[in-house]
Order: sequence, then C-alpha cells, then structure tokens
Amino acid sequence: MPTNFRFMTLLFVLAVVVFTAGFGLQQTPSTPAPAPRTASTPSAQSSDKPQEKTVQESNDASAAALRAQIKGHEQEPASKVFKNVKFMTDAPAGRFLNIMNMGYSRALGVKCDYCHDEADYSSDVKRPKRAAREMQVMHHDINTQLGKMQNLQPKSDGQYFINCGTCHRGMIDPTKPLPK
Ligand code: HEC
Ligand code: HEC
Repeated sequence: MPTNFRFMTLLFVLAVVVFTAGFGLQQTPSTPAPAPRTASTPSAQSSDKPQEKTVQESNDASAAALRAQIKGHEQEPASKVFKNVKFMTDAPAGRFLNIMNMGYSRALGVKCDYCHDEADYSSDVKRPKRAAREMQVMHHDINTQLGKMQNLQPKSDGQYFINCGTCHRGMIDPTKPLPK
C-alpha cells in the first residue's frame, strides 16, 4: 500500500510537470504573436503618413512665436504691448495670447490667419477680424444682460456667463447644424 501510494504520487507529480511543460510549450510561441502587432500599429501609422500640423498645433506655434517676441512683458496690459488692441485693453499680454489661441481660434475652429495677416497681427485688413471686433461688443452686451438677471446664480468676479464658444462650438458659422 505505501509503495503503491508513493508510486501514484510520483505519477501525479510527473503528470503535472508534463502537463505544465506541454502547456508552456504551446503557450510560449503563441503569446508574443499578437503583442508586436498591437505595439507596431501606432508607430507604423505615424511613420507611414507625412505629418501635417493640426489646427491646434499651428495655433500653438503661432502663439509661442509671439510669446517669445514679448518675453518679459507678459504681465503688461495688451494695449501697451501690442499696437492695435482696442477692446481687451487691460488684459495682461500673455493672457491675451491665450485668449486668441484657446478662446477665439478654438471657438471657431480656425487658424490665426483666418482673422490675421500673420506678417502684421495689428492689421485690420481681414473682414473676419473686423467681424470679431463687433462680436466682442455683442459678447460683452449679452454678458451684461445676463448679469442683470434677478434669478440666476451669481458669477464670481471676472467670470462670464457666455463666451465665443457658447455659440460657435468649433464652427465659423454657428447657424449650421452641429457636426455629427
Ligand atoms: C476670430 C478672429 C481671430 C482669430 C482666429 C485670432 N485673432 Fe488675434 N485678434 C483678433 C481681434 C479682434 C484682435 C483685436 C483685439 C482687441 O482689440 O481687443 C486681435 C488681436 C491680436 C493681436 C494684437 C496685435 C496688435 O499688435 O494689435 C495679436 C498679437 C493676436 N491677435 C494674435 C493672435 C494669434 C497668435 C492667434 C492664433 C493663435 C489669433 N490672434 C487668432 C481676432 C482674432
Ligand atoms: C450669441 C452667439 C454668438 C457669440 C457669443 C459669438 N458669436 Fe461670432 N457669430 C455668431 C453668428 C450668428 C455669426 C454669423 C454666422 C453667419 O451667418 O455667417 C457669427 C460670426 C462670426 C464671425 C464671422 C465669420 C465669417 O467668416 O463670416 C467671426 C469672426 C466671429 N463670429 C467671431 C466671434 C468671436 C471672436 C466671438 C467671441 C468674442 C464670437 N464670435 C461670439 C454668433 C455668435
């Protein structure tokens, strides 16, 4: 009986070893196969296609170039640092550039050159920049009206009810249906 039991134990141990080894052999070659496929997909895509700047990357680059030009003057009022600022006169110049990038451009989904002659940002030669000047006034008037309402939760100082993106939502013409 004891020898028989020891023999059975040995058989069981052997069976486990063989099973695990066999399992291991089957598993080892198949496991790495899917891994490189998933790992190579993004790099294959990014190296195959020539990289074109996204709208946001282009705007970030334009804003960074201007930020470098005004280095050391970021905290001074925009009207002092730039040539032709008539509305957001008191905004610190650094913040003004952020508004141009993350506010105006992003709200309409456009690059800076939709409104600007990039050789001279102070120029009002482009109609959309002049339209944006009128939009600034309307946007301010709407916020003033909302601020007079009696039954809204009050905003904390400097917070607006609406901004350019409230209407535009990434589109030049907000009267068009939303993109799907
Ligand atoms: C939707 C139109 C619009 C877009 C897009 C836009 N801007 Fe402007 N920008 C304006 C308007 C309007 C002013 C004048 C603001 C004022 O008077 O308060 C202005 C003024 C400026 C000025 C001051 C120039 C000067 O010397 O008077 C700079 C610099 C500027 N924008 C940079 C940018 C950059 C950088 C981008 C892109 C990241 C950009 N803008 C995108 C409308 C636009
Ligand atoms: C209350 C809604 C509303 C708000 C807020 C608003 N816009 Fe507009 N905007 C419009 C409408 C409507 C048009 C006209 C679209 C059309 O029919 O061509 C327009 C047109 C424009 C155009 C002209 C586009 C073109 O090429 O003809 C510019 C530039 C513009 N908006 C910039 C701005 C900026 C910058 C702000 C924030 C300061 C702003 N808008 C805030 C509703 C709004």
